[in-house]
Amino acid sequence: MSAYDIVEHVYDVVIVGAGGAGLRAALGMAASGLKTACVTKVFPTRSHTVAAQGGMAASLGNMGDGDDWRYHMYDTVKGSDWLGDQDAIEYMCREAVPAVLELEHYGVPFSRTEDGRIYQRPFGGQTIDYGKSMAQRTCAAADRTGHAILHTLYQRCLEHGTEFFVEYLALDLLMDEDGSCRGMLAWNIEAGTLHRFRAHRTVLATGGYGRVYFSCTAAHTCTGDGNAMALRAGLPLQDMEFTQFHPTGIYGSGCLVTEGARGEGGYLTNSGGERFMERYAPSAKDLAGRDVVCRAMTIEINEGRGCGPQKDHIHLHLEHLGAELLHQRLPGISETARIFAGVDVTREPIPVLPTVHYNMGGVPTNLHGEVLSGQPASADAPVRGLMAIGEAACVSVHGANRLGSNSLLDIIVFGRAAANRAVATLRAGEGHAPIPQEATDRALARLDRIRSASGRTDTGAIRLAMQQVMQNHCAVFRDGPLLDEGAARLGEIFRTLHHDLRLSDRSMIFNTELVEALELDNMMAQAQVSLRSAIARTESRGSHSREDFPGRDDVAWLKHTRCWLDDAGAARLAYRPVRLRPLSNDVASIPPKERVY
Ligand code: FUM
Repeated sequence: MSAYDIVEHVYDVVIVGAGGAGLRAALGMAASGLKTACVTKVFPTRSHTVAAQGGMAASLGNMGDGDDWRYHMYDTVKGSDWLGDQDAIEYMCREAVPAVLELEHYGVPFSRTEDGRIYQRPFGGQTIDYGKSMAQRTCAAADRTGHAILHTLYQRCLEHGTEFFVEYLALDLLMDEDGSCRGMLAWNIEAGTLHRFRAHRTVLATGGYGRVYFSCTAAHTCTGDGNAMALRAGLPLQDMEFTQFHPTGIYGSGCLVTEGARGEGGYLTNSGGERFMERYAPSAKDLAGRDVVCRAMTIEINEGRGCGPQKDHIHLHLEHLGAELLHQRLPGISETARIFAGVDVTREPIPVLPTVHYNMGGVPTNLHGEVLSGQPASADAPVRGLMAIGEAACVSVHGANRLGSNSLLDIIVFGRAAANRAVATLRAGEGHAPIPQEATDRALARLDRIRSASGRTDTGAIRLAMQQVMQNHCAVFRDGPLLDEGAARLGEIFRTLHHDLRLSDRSMIFNTELVEALELDNMMAQAQVSLRSAIARTESRGSHSREDFPGRDDVAWLKHTRCWLDDAGAARLAYRPVRLRPLSNDVASIPPKERVY
Protein backbone atom coordinates (compact mmCIF):
# COMPACT_ATOMS: atom_id res chain seq x y z
CA MET A 1 0.00 0.00 0.00
CA SER A 2 1.07 3.56 -0.71
CA ALA A 3 3.16 5.29 1.87
CA TYR A 4 1.34 8.47 2.79
CA ASP A 5 1.72 10.16 6.16
CA ILE A 6 -1.70 10.80 7.54
CA VAL A 7 -2.53 13.59 9.97
CA GLU A 8 -5.10 12.45 12.54
CA HIS A 9 -8.03 14.57 13.78
CA VAL A 10 -10.69 13.70 16.34
CA TYR A 11 -14.05 15.49 16.46
CA ASP A 12 -17.57 14.84 17.62
CA VAL A 13 -18.85 15.78 14.16
CA VAL A 14 -17.26 16.47 10.82
CA ILE A 15 -19.23 18.30 8.18
CA VAL A 16 -18.15 18.04 4.57
CA GLY A 17 -19.09 21.21 2.74
CA ALA A 18 -19.56 24.81 3.87
CA GLY A 19 -22.60 25.94 1.88
CA GLY A 20 -25.78 27.02 3.63
CA ALA A 21 -26.70 23.49 4.78
CA GLY A 22 -23.23 22.69 6.10
CA LEU A 23 -22.89 26.02 7.89
CA ARG A 24 -26.37 25.88 9.45
CA ALA A 25 -25.61 22.37 10.73
CA ALA A 26 -22.16 23.41 11.96
CA LEU A 27 -23.59 26.40 13.76
CA GLY A 28 -26.17 24.33 15.64
CA MET A 29 -23.69 21.65 16.58
CA ALA A 30 -20.85 23.95 17.64
CA ALA A 31 -23.19 26.25 19.56
CA SER A 32 -24.34 23.24 21.60
CA GLY A 33 -20.83 22.29 22.58
CA LEU A 34 -20.05 19.55 20.08
CA LYS A 35 -16.49 19.69 18.74
CA THR A 36 -17.26 20.48 15.13
CA ALA A 37 -15.04 20.43 12.06
CA CYS A 38 -16.16 21.79 8.70
CA VAL A 39 -14.07 20.51 5.80
CA THR A 40 -14.53 22.40 2.55
CA LYS A 41 -12.85 22.46 -0.84
CA VAL A 42 -13.50 26.20 -1.27
CA PHE A 43 -13.45 29.06 1.18
CA PRO A 44 -16.84 28.91 2.97
CA THR A 45 -18.23 32.14 1.54
CA ARG A 46 -17.38 30.93 -1.97
CA SER A 47 -19.64 27.89 -1.62
CA HIS A 48 -22.35 27.71 -4.26
CA THR A 49 -25.08 28.98 -1.89
CA VAL A 50 -23.50 32.37 -2.49
CA ALA A 51 -25.00 32.30 -6.00
CA ALA A 52 -28.59 31.73 -4.86
CA GLN A 53 -30.50 34.78 -5.96
CA GLY A 54 -34.27 34.98 -5.64
CA GLY A 55 -34.95 33.96 -2.06
CA MET A 56 -36.31 31.54 0.49
CA ALA A 57 -39.97 30.52 0.70
CA ALA A 58 -41.86 30.88 3.99
CA SER A 59 -45.52 31.63 4.58
CA LEU A 60 -44.90 34.75 6.70
CA GLY A 61 -47.76 36.50 4.93
CA ASN A 62 -45.99 39.85 5.11
CA MET A 63 -47.24 40.87 1.67
CA GLY A 64 -50.27 40.15 -0.49
CA ASP A 65 -53.15 37.90 0.55
CA GLY A 66 -52.91 35.97 3.81
CA ASP A 67 -50.60 32.96 3.68
CA ASP A 68 -50.55 29.59 5.47
CA TRP A 69 -47.99 26.78 5.68
CA ARG A 70 -50.70 24.41 4.38
CA TYR A 71 -50.86 26.38 1.11
CA HIS A 72 -47.08 26.15 0.88
CA MET A 73 -47.25 22.41 1.55
CA TYR A 74 -49.91 21.92 -1.11
CA ASP A 75 -47.85 23.86 -3.67
CA THR A 76 -44.73 21.85 -2.84
CA VAL A 77 -46.52 18.49 -3.16
CA LYS A 78 -48.06 19.58 -6.46
CA GLY A 79 -44.74 21.02 -7.67
CA SER A 80 -43.07 17.69 -6.86
CA ASP A 81 -45.62 16.00 -9.15
CA TRP A 82 -46.60 13.99 -6.08
CA LEU A 83 -43.21 12.29 -5.75
CA GLY A 84 -42.29 14.31 -2.65
CA ASP A 85 -42.86 12.65 0.74
CA GLN A 86 -45.68 14.49 2.45
CA ASP A 87 -44.36 14.04 5.99
CA ALA A 88 -41.07 15.69 5.03
CA ILE A 89 -42.87 18.42 3.08
CA GLU A 90 -45.12 19.21 6.04
CA TYR A 91 -42.06 19.44 8.26
CA MET A 92 -40.23 21.78 5.87
CA CYS A 93 -43.17 24.10 5.23
CA ARG A 94 -44.10 24.39 8.91
CA GLU A 95 -40.50 25.02 9.92
CA ALA A 96 -40.05 27.65 7.20
CA VAL A 97 -41.46 30.54 9.23
CA PRO A 98 -39.30 30.04 12.35
CA ALA A 99 -36.31 29.29 10.11
CA VAL A 100 -36.56 32.66 8.35
CA LEU A 101 -37.13 34.54 11.58
CA GLU A 102 -34.12 32.81 13.09
CA LEU A 103 -32.00 33.95 10.12
CA GLU A 104 -33.32 37.47 10.56
CA HIS A 105 -32.22 37.37 14.19
CA TYR A 106 -28.81 36.04 13.18
CA GLY A 107 -28.46 39.20 11.10
CA VAL A 108 -29.36 38.29 7.51
CA PRO A 109 -30.01 41.64 5.78
CA PHE A 110 -33.34 40.85 4.13
CA SER A 111 -34.93 43.50 1.91
CA ARG A 112 -37.74 45.34 3.67
CA THR A 113 -41.28 46.52 3.04
CA GLU A 114 -42.19 50.15 3.66
CA ASP A 115 -43.26 49.23 7.20
CA GLY A 116 -40.05 47.33 7.93
CA ARG A 117 -41.12 43.71 7.48
CA ILE A 118 -39.22 41.13 5.43
CA TYR A 119 -39.88 41.71 1.72
CA GLN A 120 -41.50 38.75 -0.10
CA ARG A 121 -41.89 38.26 -3.85
CA PRO A 122 -43.91 35.84 -5.99
CA PHE A 123 -42.15 32.72 -7.30
CA GLY A 124 -43.18 29.94 -9.66
CA GLY A 125 -45.83 27.52 -8.40
CA GLN A 126 -46.19 29.28 -5.02
CA THR A 127 -49.87 30.12 -4.52
CA ILE A 128 -52.50 31.14 -2.02
CA ASP A 129 -55.51 28.99 -1.15
CA TYR A 130 -54.53 25.91 -3.17
CA GLY A 131 -53.90 27.65 -6.47
CA LYS A 132 -56.45 30.48 -6.37
CA SER A 133 -53.90 33.32 -6.70
CA MET A 134 -50.13 33.76 -6.74
CA ALA A 135 -48.48 34.03 -3.33
CA GLN A 136 -45.85 36.56 -2.27
CA ARG A 137 -43.94 34.02 -0.22
CA THR A 138 -40.28 34.25 -1.19
CA CYS A 139 -38.20 36.19 1.35
CA ALA A 140 -35.48 38.08 -0.47
CA ALA A 141 -32.35 40.11 0.06
CA ALA A 142 -32.60 41.87 -3.33
CA ASP A 143 -31.36 39.20 -5.77
CA ARG A 144 -28.43 38.16 -3.59
CA THR A 145 -30.26 36.19 -0.90
CA GLY A 146 -27.85 33.25 -0.82
CA HIS A 147 -24.92 35.64 -0.48
CA ALA A 148 -26.58 37.35 2.49
CA ILE A 149 -27.42 34.05 4.22
CA LEU A 150 -24.03 32.43 3.63
CA HIS A 151 -22.01 35.35 4.98
CA THR A 152 -24.21 35.64 8.07
CA LEU A 153 -23.97 31.92 8.84
CA TYR A 154 -20.20 31.90 8.38
CA GLN A 155 -19.82 34.74 10.87
CA ARG A 156 -22.03 32.90 13.36
CA CYS A 157 -20.06 29.68 12.92
CA LEU A 158 -16.83 31.51 13.71
CA GLU A 159 -18.45 33.02 16.78
CA HIS A 160 -19.26 29.53 18.08
CA GLY A 161 -15.87 28.00 17.40
CA THR A 162 -16.49 25.78 14.38
CA GLU A 163 -13.08 24.72 13.09
CA PHE A 164 -12.71 25.15 9.33
CA PHE A 165 -10.42 23.10 7.09
CA VAL A 166 -10.37 25.15 3.92
CA GLU A 167 -9.30 23.84 0.51
CA TYR A 168 -9.41 20.26 1.70
CA LEU A 169 -10.90 17.83 -0.82
CA ALA A 170 -12.87 15.00 0.80
CA LEU A 171 -11.69 11.69 -0.68
CA ASP A 172 -13.80 8.97 0.90
CA LEU A 173 -15.94 7.93 3.82
CA LEU A 174 -14.30 5.59 6.31
CA MET A 175 -16.77 2.79 6.96
CA ASP A 176 -16.25 -0.10 9.34
CA GLU A 177 -17.15 -3.78 8.87
CA ASP A 178 -20.69 -3.40 10.18
CA GLY A 179 -21.47 -0.56 7.79
CA SER A 180 -21.12 2.32 10.27
CA CYS A 181 -19.39 5.50 9.21
CA ARG A 182 -16.44 6.40 11.42
CA GLY A 183 -15.22 9.51 9.64
CA MET A 184 -13.59 10.46 6.37
CA LEU A 185 -10.29 10.99 4.62
CA ALA A 186 -9.40 14.32 3.02
CA TRP A 187 -6.54 15.85 1.05
CA ASN A 188 -5.23 19.28 2.00
CA ILE A 189 -4.80 20.69 -1.47
CA GLU A 190 -2.52 23.54 -0.40
CA ALA A 191 -0.11 21.57 1.78
CA GLY A 192 -0.34 18.26 -0.06
CA THR A 193 -1.04 16.34 3.15
CA LEU A 194 -3.66 13.69 3.89
CA HIS A 195 -5.99 13.98 6.90
CA ARG A 196 -8.12 11.37 8.64
CA PHE A 197 -11.09 12.80 10.52
CA ARG A 198 -12.63 10.55 13.16
CA ALA A 199 -16.12 11.60 14.10
CA HIS A 200 -19.29 10.19 15.59
CA ARG A 201 -21.25 11.86 12.82
CA THR A 202 -20.02 12.63 9.33
CA VAL A 203 -22.37 15.02 7.56
CA LEU A 204 -22.38 15.21 3.77
CA ALA A 205 -23.28 18.77 2.77
CA THR A 206 -21.51 18.72 -0.54
CA GLY A 207 -24.24 20.15 -2.80
CA GLY A 208 -25.38 19.05 -6.22
CA TYR A 209 -23.67 17.68 -9.31
CA GLY A 210 -24.79 20.16 -11.97
CA ARG A 211 -21.38 20.07 -13.64
CA VAL A 212 -22.21 16.63 -14.99
CA TYR A 213 -23.94 18.66 -17.75
CA PHE A 214 -22.35 20.88 -20.37
CA SER A 215 -24.49 23.92 -19.55
CA CYS A 216 -25.56 24.65 -15.99
CA THR A 217 -26.04 27.47 -13.53
CA ALA A 218 -23.90 25.63 -10.96
CA ALA A 219 -20.36 26.58 -9.99
CA HIS A 220 -17.47 24.50 -11.35
CA THR A 221 -17.15 23.06 -7.86
CA CYS A 222 -20.61 21.42 -8.01
CA THR A 223 -19.38 17.90 -8.69
CA GLY A 224 -21.43 15.98 -6.11
CA ASP A 225 -18.41 14.65 -4.22
CA GLY A 226 -20.49 13.46 -1.26
CA ASN A 227 -22.93 11.55 -3.47
CA ALA A 228 -20.04 9.70 -5.08
CA MET A 229 -18.49 8.94 -1.70
CA ALA A 230 -21.81 7.42 -0.62
CA LEU A 231 -21.92 5.27 -3.76
CA ARG A 232 -18.38 4.05 -3.15
CA ALA A 233 -19.38 3.20 0.43
CA GLY A 234 -21.98 0.81 -1.02
CA LEU A 235 -24.96 3.09 -0.42
CA PRO A 236 -27.67 3.99 -2.93
CA LEU A 237 -28.63 7.35 -4.38
CA GLN A 238 -32.30 8.22 -4.72
CA ASP A 239 -34.33 9.79 -7.58
CA MET A 240 -31.29 10.68 -9.64
CA GLU A 241 -33.30 10.79 -12.88
CA PHE A 242 -34.82 14.11 -11.77
CA THR A 243 -32.61 16.98 -12.91
CA GLN A 244 -34.12 20.44 -12.83
CA PHE A 245 -33.57 22.86 -15.68
CA HIS A 246 -34.03 26.54 -14.78
CA PRO A 247 -35.96 28.42 -17.48
CA THR A 248 -33.69 31.45 -17.53
CA GLY A 249 -30.03 30.64 -17.92
CA ILE A 250 -28.35 33.31 -20.04
CA TYR A 251 -28.00 32.08 -23.62
CA GLY A 252 -24.37 31.05 -24.20
CA SER A 253 -22.96 31.29 -20.69
CA GLY A 254 -25.70 29.56 -18.64
CA CYS A 255 -25.49 32.20 -15.88
CA LEU A 256 -28.62 32.30 -13.74
CA VAL A 257 -31.24 35.00 -14.12
CA THR A 258 -33.41 34.60 -11.06
CA GLU A 259 -37.01 33.47 -11.27
CA GLY A 260 -37.49 36.53 -9.06
CA ALA A 261 -37.20 38.50 -12.32
CA ARG A 262 -40.49 36.95 -13.43
CA GLY A 263 -41.75 37.26 -9.85
CA GLU A 264 -41.23 41.02 -10.15
CA GLY A 265 -43.24 41.08 -13.39
CA GLY A 266 -40.82 39.92 -16.12
CA TYR A 267 -42.15 37.72 -18.92
CA LEU A 268 -41.00 35.46 -21.75
CA THR A 269 -41.65 35.89 -25.48
CA ASN A 270 -40.91 33.90 -28.62
CA SER A 271 -39.67 35.22 -31.98
CA GLY A 272 -43.14 36.55 -32.78
CA GLY A 273 -43.15 38.61 -29.58
CA GLU A 274 -45.88 36.34 -28.22
CA ARG A 275 -46.21 35.72 -24.46
CA PHE A 276 -46.45 32.03 -25.17
CA MET A 277 -46.75 30.87 -21.54
CA GLU A 278 -50.39 31.98 -21.67
CA ARG A 279 -51.01 28.98 -23.94
CA TYR A 280 -49.21 26.44 -21.73
CA ALA A 281 -50.22 27.65 -18.24
CA PRO A 282 -53.24 29.95 -18.59
CA SER A 283 -53.45 30.71 -14.90
CA ALA A 284 -49.85 30.97 -13.57
CA LYS A 285 -48.35 31.82 -17.01
CA ASP A 286 -44.64 32.69 -16.59
CA LEU A 287 -44.79 31.60 -12.95
CA ALA A 288 -45.81 27.99 -13.56
CA GLY A 289 -43.55 25.22 -12.23
CA ARG A 290 -40.05 25.30 -13.70
CA ASP A 291 -40.45 22.00 -15.52
CA VAL A 292 -43.61 23.31 -17.20
CA VAL A 293 -41.93 26.55 -18.30
CA CYS A 294 -38.82 24.73 -19.57
CA ARG A 295 -40.87 22.32 -21.65
CA ALA A 296 -42.87 25.22 -23.12
CA MET A 297 -39.68 27.09 -24.06
CA THR A 298 -38.18 23.97 -25.61
CA ILE A 299 -41.33 23.32 -27.66
CA GLU A 300 -41.34 26.93 -28.90
CA ILE A 301 -37.74 26.57 -30.05
CA ASN A 302 -38.24 23.09 -31.53
CA GLU A 303 -41.28 24.31 -33.50
CA GLY A 304 -39.32 27.18 -35.05
CA ARG A 305 -40.45 30.05 -32.84
CA GLY A 306 -37.12 30.62 -31.10
CA CYS A 307 -35.48 34.07 -31.13
CA GLY A 308 -32.30 35.24 -32.83
CA PRO A 309 -30.71 34.31 -36.16
CA GLN A 310 -30.48 30.65 -35.14
CA LYS A 311 -34.00 30.68 -33.61
CA ASP A 312 -32.44 28.93 -30.63
CA HIS A 313 -33.39 30.95 -27.56
CA ILE A 314 -36.21 32.87 -25.85
CA HIS A 315 -36.47 36.50 -24.71
CA LEU A 316 -36.95 37.51 -21.09
CA HIS A 317 -38.37 41.05 -20.83
CA LEU A 318 -37.70 43.29 -17.86
CA GLU A 319 -37.58 46.69 -19.67
CA HIS A 320 -41.12 47.59 -18.62
CA LEU A 321 -40.27 47.27 -14.91
CA GLY A 322 -38.32 50.53 -14.95
CA ALA A 323 -34.79 51.38 -13.89
CA GLU A 324 -35.68 52.13 -10.27
CA LEU A 325 -37.25 48.75 -9.52
CA LEU A 326 -34.51 46.93 -11.42
CA HIS A 327 -31.88 48.76 -9.41
CA GLN A 328 -33.60 48.11 -6.10
CA ARG A 329 -34.81 44.52 -6.51
CA LEU A 330 -32.71 42.98 -9.28
CA PRO A 331 -29.28 44.68 -9.23
CA GLY A 332 -27.32 41.43 -9.48
CA ILE A 333 -28.98 40.07 -12.58
CA SER A 334 -28.91 43.50 -14.23
CA GLU A 335 -25.12 43.37 -13.91
CA THR A 336 -24.93 39.72 -14.98
CA ALA A 337 -27.01 40.44 -18.09
CA ARG A 338 -24.71 43.33 -19.00
CA ILE A 339 -21.54 41.29 -18.55
CA PHE A 340 -22.63 37.94 -19.98
CA ALA A 341 -25.22 38.94 -22.59
CA GLY A 342 -24.17 42.53 -23.37
CA VAL A 343 -27.72 43.59 -22.56
CA ASP A 344 -28.99 46.74 -20.81
CA VAL A 345 -32.05 45.29 -19.07
CA THR A 346 -33.73 48.70 -18.89
CA ARG A 347 -33.89 48.72 -22.71
CA GLU A 348 -33.67 45.20 -24.18
CA PRO A 349 -34.73 41.63 -23.42
CA ILE A 350 -32.26 39.04 -22.11
CA PRO A 351 -31.67 36.00 -24.36
CA VAL A 352 -32.31 32.93 -22.20
CA LEU A 353 -32.47 29.14 -22.44
CA PRO A 354 -33.41 26.30 -20.04
CA THR A 355 -30.20 25.43 -18.18
CA VAL A 356 -29.41 22.68 -15.66
CA HIS A 357 -29.90 24.13 -12.19
CA TYR A 358 -30.67 21.59 -9.47
CA ASN A 359 -30.62 17.90 -8.59
CA MET A 360 -33.72 16.65 -6.86
CA GLY A 361 -31.98 13.32 -6.27
CA GLY A 362 -29.23 12.53 -3.80
CA VAL A 363 -28.37 10.53 -0.71
CA PRO A 364 -31.64 9.23 0.83
CA THR A 365 -32.24 10.52 4.36
CA ASN A 366 -34.95 10.75 6.99
CA LEU A 367 -36.26 14.03 8.42
CA HIS A 368 -33.29 14.30 10.77
CA GLY A 369 -30.71 14.13 8.00
CA GLU A 370 -29.74 10.54 8.85
CA VAL A 371 -28.70 8.58 5.78
CA LEU A 372 -30.84 5.54 4.95
CA SER A 373 -29.17 2.30 4.00
CA GLY A 374 -31.83 1.41 1.44
CA GLN A 375 -31.22 -2.28 1.88
CA PRO A 376 -34.43 -4.16 1.02
CA ALA A 377 -34.57 -5.82 4.43
CA SER A 378 -34.36 -2.54 6.32
CA ALA A 379 -35.29 0.00 3.70
CA ASP A 380 -35.44 2.91 6.08
CA ALA A 381 -32.84 1.96 8.67
CA PRO A 382 -30.31 4.76 9.24
CA VAL A 383 -26.63 4.17 8.52
CA ARG A 384 -24.88 4.70 11.85
CA GLY A 385 -22.66 7.76 11.90
CA LEU A 386 -23.64 9.20 8.52
CA MET A 387 -25.86 12.18 7.73
CA ALA A 388 -26.60 14.15 4.54
CA ILE A 389 -28.27 17.53 4.07
CA GLY A 390 -28.99 20.11 1.39
CA GLU A 391 -28.78 19.39 -2.32
CA ALA A 392 -26.61 16.33 -1.63
CA ALA A 393 -29.54 14.75 0.20
CA CYS A 394 -32.90 13.46 -0.96
CA VAL A 395 -35.29 13.74 2.00
CA SER A 396 -37.49 13.90 -0.28
CA VAL A 397 -39.14 17.31 -0.21
CA HIS A 398 -38.76 18.16 -3.89
CA GLY A 399 -39.85 14.91 -5.50
CA ALA A 400 -39.76 15.13 -9.27
CA ASN A 401 -39.53 18.93 -9.48
CA ARG A 402 -38.46 21.51 -6.92
CA LEU A 403 -40.28 24.81 -6.54
CA GLY A 404 -38.08 27.86 -6.82
CA SER A 405 -37.06 29.26 -3.39
CA ASN A 406 -37.62 25.91 -1.67
CA SER A 407 -33.89 25.18 -1.91
CA LEU A 408 -32.62 27.88 0.45
CA LEU A 409 -35.46 26.75 2.68
CA ASP A 410 -34.42 23.09 2.49
CA ILE A 411 -30.78 23.80 3.38
CA ILE A 412 -31.69 25.87 6.43
CA VAL A 413 -34.50 23.66 7.75
CA PHE A 414 -32.64 20.38 7.32
CA GLY A 415 -29.24 21.80 8.32
CA ARG A 416 -30.93 22.80 11.56
CA ALA A 417 -32.72 19.43 11.89
CA ALA A 418 -29.41 17.58 11.49
CA ALA A 419 -27.82 19.75 14.15
CA ASN A 420 -30.71 19.11 16.52
CA ARG A 421 -30.44 15.37 15.93
CA ALA A 422 -26.71 15.28 16.52
CA VAL A 423 -27.07 17.33 19.69
CA ALA A 424 -29.86 15.04 20.93
CA THR A 425 -27.99 11.81 20.26
CA LEU A 426 -24.35 12.64 21.06
CA ARG A 427 -22.38 13.57 24.12
CA ALA A 428 -19.41 15.87 23.54
CA GLY A 429 -16.05 14.15 23.83
CA GLU A 430 -17.23 10.51 23.75
CA GLY A 431 -14.54 7.94 22.82
CA HIS A 432 -14.20 6.65 19.26
CA ALA A 433 -14.24 3.11 17.89
CA PRO A 434 -11.19 2.21 15.79
CA ILE A 435 -11.32 2.69 12.03
CA PRO A 436 -10.36 -0.44 10.10
CA GLN A 437 -7.14 0.10 8.13
CA GLU A 438 -8.78 -1.35 5.00
CA ALA A 439 -11.14 1.63 4.85
CA THR A 440 -8.21 4.04 4.59
CA ASP A 441 -6.36 1.69 2.22
CA ARG A 442 -9.31 1.61 -0.18
CA ALA A 443 -9.47 5.39 -0.28
CA LEU A 444 -5.71 5.63 -0.85
CA ALA A 445 -5.84 3.01 -3.60
CA ARG A 446 -8.34 5.15 -5.50
CA LEU A 447 -6.23 8.25 -4.99
CA ASP A 448 -3.15 6.39 -6.24
CA ARG A 449 -4.95 4.93 -9.25
CA ILE A 450 -6.01 8.35 -10.42
CA ARG A 451 -2.84 10.19 -9.45
CA SER A 452 -0.65 7.75 -11.33
CA ALA A 453 -2.92 7.39 -14.40
CA SER A 454 -0.69 7.15 -17.45
CA GLY A 455 -3.02 6.61 -20.39
CA ARG A 456 -3.51 8.93 -23.38
CA THR A 457 -6.63 10.96 -22.64
CA ASP A 458 -6.65 13.96 -20.35
CA THR A 459 -9.30 14.86 -17.79
CA GLY A 460 -10.76 17.77 -19.77
CA ALA A 461 -11.47 15.65 -22.84
CA ILE A 462 -13.19 12.91 -20.83
CA ARG A 463 -15.21 15.44 -18.84
CA LEU A 464 -16.37 17.21 -21.99
CA ALA A 465 -17.45 13.92 -23.57
CA MET A 466 -19.44 13.03 -20.43
CA GLN A 467 -21.05 16.48 -20.26
CA GLN A 468 -22.08 16.32 -23.91
CA VAL A 469 -23.68 12.92 -23.46
CA MET A 470 -25.72 14.16 -20.51
CA GLN A 471 -26.68 17.38 -22.30
CA ASN A 472 -27.77 15.60 -25.47
CA HIS A 473 -29.25 12.39 -24.07
CA CYS A 474 -30.75 13.28 -20.70
CA ALA A 475 -32.18 16.79 -21.05
CA VAL A 476 -35.63 18.44 -20.82
CA PHE A 477 -37.22 15.83 -23.12
CA ARG A 478 -36.00 12.22 -23.18
CA ASP A 479 -36.96 8.96 -24.82
CA GLY A 480 -35.88 5.36 -24.53
CA PRO A 481 -33.62 5.08 -27.60
CA LEU A 482 -31.95 8.42 -26.82
CA LEU A 483 -31.30 7.42 -23.22
CA ASP A 484 -30.04 3.96 -24.25
CA GLU A 485 -27.64 5.49 -26.75
CA GLY A 486 -26.46 7.91 -24.04
CA ALA A 487 -25.85 5.06 -21.63
CA ALA A 488 -23.85 3.14 -24.23
CA ARG A 489 -21.70 6.19 -24.97
CA LEU A 490 -21.25 6.90 -21.29
CA GLY A 491 -20.11 3.31 -20.81
CA GLU A 492 -17.31 3.91 -23.34
CA ILE A 493 -16.36 7.16 -21.60
CA PHE A 494 -16.33 5.38 -18.24
CA ARG A 495 -13.90 2.83 -19.72
CA THR A 496 -11.71 5.62 -21.03
CA LEU A 497 -11.66 7.20 -17.59
CA HIS A 498 -10.67 3.93 -15.98
CA HIS A 499 -8.18 2.65 -18.56
CA ASP A 500 -6.88 5.59 -20.56
CA LEU A 501 -6.79 8.64 -18.26
CA ARG A 502 -3.56 10.62 -18.30
CA LEU A 503 -2.30 12.93 -15.58
CA SER A 504 0.87 14.88 -16.23
CA ASP A 505 1.21 16.34 -12.72
CA ARG A 506 1.74 13.74 -9.99
CA SER A 507 2.54 16.12 -7.16
CA MET A 508 0.34 16.50 -4.09
CA ILE A 509 0.73 20.27 -3.62
CA PHE A 510 -1.92 22.36 -5.33
CA ASN A 511 -2.30 19.79 -8.07
CA THR A 512 -5.44 21.13 -9.72
CA GLU A 513 -5.19 18.47 -12.42
CA LEU A 514 -5.58 15.83 -9.72
CA VAL A 515 -8.48 17.74 -8.13
CA GLU A 516 -10.28 17.81 -11.47
CA ALA A 517 -9.62 14.12 -12.15
CA LEU A 518 -10.97 13.11 -8.73
CA GLU A 519 -14.02 15.32 -9.30
CA LEU A 520 -14.52 13.78 -12.73
CA ASP A 521 -14.42 10.30 -11.22
CA ASN A 522 -17.14 11.47 -8.80
CA MET A 523 -19.26 12.98 -11.55
CA MET A 524 -18.98 9.95 -13.80
CA ALA A 525 -20.58 7.73 -11.15
CA GLN A 526 -23.50 10.15 -10.80
CA ALA A 527 -23.95 10.46 -14.56
CA GLN A 528 -24.23 6.67 -14.78
CA VAL A 529 -26.73 6.46 -11.95
CA SER A 530 -28.79 9.32 -13.43
CA LEU A 531 -28.99 7.72 -16.85
CA ARG A 532 -29.76 4.25 -15.51
CA SER A 533 -32.51 5.62 -13.26
CA ALA A 534 -33.96 7.62 -16.17
CA ILE A 535 -33.98 4.63 -18.52
CA ALA A 536 -35.91 2.55 -16.00
CA ARG A 537 -38.63 5.12 -15.25
CA THR A 538 -41.10 4.60 -18.09
CA GLU A 539 -43.42 7.52 -17.34
CA SER A 540 -43.29 11.32 -17.37
CA ARG A 541 -43.27 13.04 -13.99
CA GLY A 542 -41.96 16.51 -13.12
CA SER A 543 -38.58 17.14 -14.68
CA HIS A 544 -38.40 13.61 -16.13
CA SER A 545 -40.32 14.01 -19.38
CA ARG A 546 -40.30 10.91 -21.62
CA GLU A 547 -41.65 11.47 -25.12
CA ASP A 548 -42.21 7.72 -25.42
CA PHE A 549 -44.16 7.64 -22.12
CA PRO A 550 -45.85 11.06 -22.01
CA GLY A 551 -48.25 10.36 -19.13
CA ARG A 552 -47.68 10.14 -15.39
CA ASP A 553 -48.33 6.61 -14.21
CA ASP A 554 -49.26 6.60 -10.53
CA VAL A 555 -50.11 2.91 -10.55
CA ALA A 556 -46.64 1.77 -11.54
CA TRP A 557 -44.42 4.73 -10.64
CA LEU A 558 -45.57 6.50 -7.50
CA LYS A 559 -42.29 5.39 -5.95
CA HIS A 560 -38.73 6.54 -5.38
CA THR A 561 -35.85 5.09 -7.33
CA ARG A 562 -32.82 3.85 -5.45
CA CYS A 563 -29.70 3.06 -7.41
CA TRP A 564 -26.44 1.41 -6.38
CA LEU A 565 -23.32 1.34 -8.56
CA ASP A 566 -20.48 -1.15 -8.36
CA ASP A 567 -16.81 -0.49 -9.15
CA ALA A 568 -17.25 -1.82 -12.68
CA GLY A 569 -19.98 0.74 -13.34
CA ALA A 570 -22.91 -1.71 -13.14
CA ALA A 571 -26.08 -0.24 -11.64
CA ARG A 572 -28.68 -1.98 -9.48
CA LEU A 573 -32.13 -0.47 -8.95
CA ALA A 574 -34.75 -0.83 -6.23
CA TYR A 575 -37.79 1.23 -5.29
CA ARG A 576 -39.62 2.45 -2.23
CA PRO A 577 -43.15 3.88 -2.06
CA VAL A 578 -43.78 7.60 -1.76
CA ARG A 579 -45.02 8.58 1.70
CA LEU A 580 -48.40 10.19 1.10
CA ARG A 581 -49.25 10.59 4.80
CA PRO A 582 -48.36 13.90 6.38
CA LEU A 583 -46.50 14.08 9.67
CA SER A 584 -49.41 15.30 11.79
CA ASN A 585 -53.18 15.42 11.86
CA ASP A 586 -53.08 19.18 11.29
CA VAL A 587 -53.31 18.64 7.56
CA ALA A 588 -54.87 16.01 5.30
CA SER A 589 -52.98 13.91 2.78
CA ILE A 590 -52.97 15.55 -0.67
CA PRO A 591 -54.04 12.85 -3.12
CA PRO A 592 -52.44 12.76 -6.58
CA LYS A 593 -54.34 14.59 -9.30
CA GLU A 594 -53.64 16.19 -12.64
CA ARG A 595 -51.05 18.95 -12.35
CA VAL A 596 -52.15 22.11 -14.15
CA TYR A 597 -51.10 25.73 -13.64
O1 FUM B 1 -34.26 31.72 -9.70
C1 FUM B 1 -33.73 31.69 -8.61
O2 FUM B 1 -33.50 32.69 -7.94
C2 FUM B 1 -33.39 30.38 -8.06
C3 FUM B 1 -33.93 30.01 -6.91
C4 FUM B 1 -34.00 28.60 -6.55
O3 FUM B 1 -33.54 27.76 -7.32
O4 FUM B 1 -34.55 28.27 -5.51
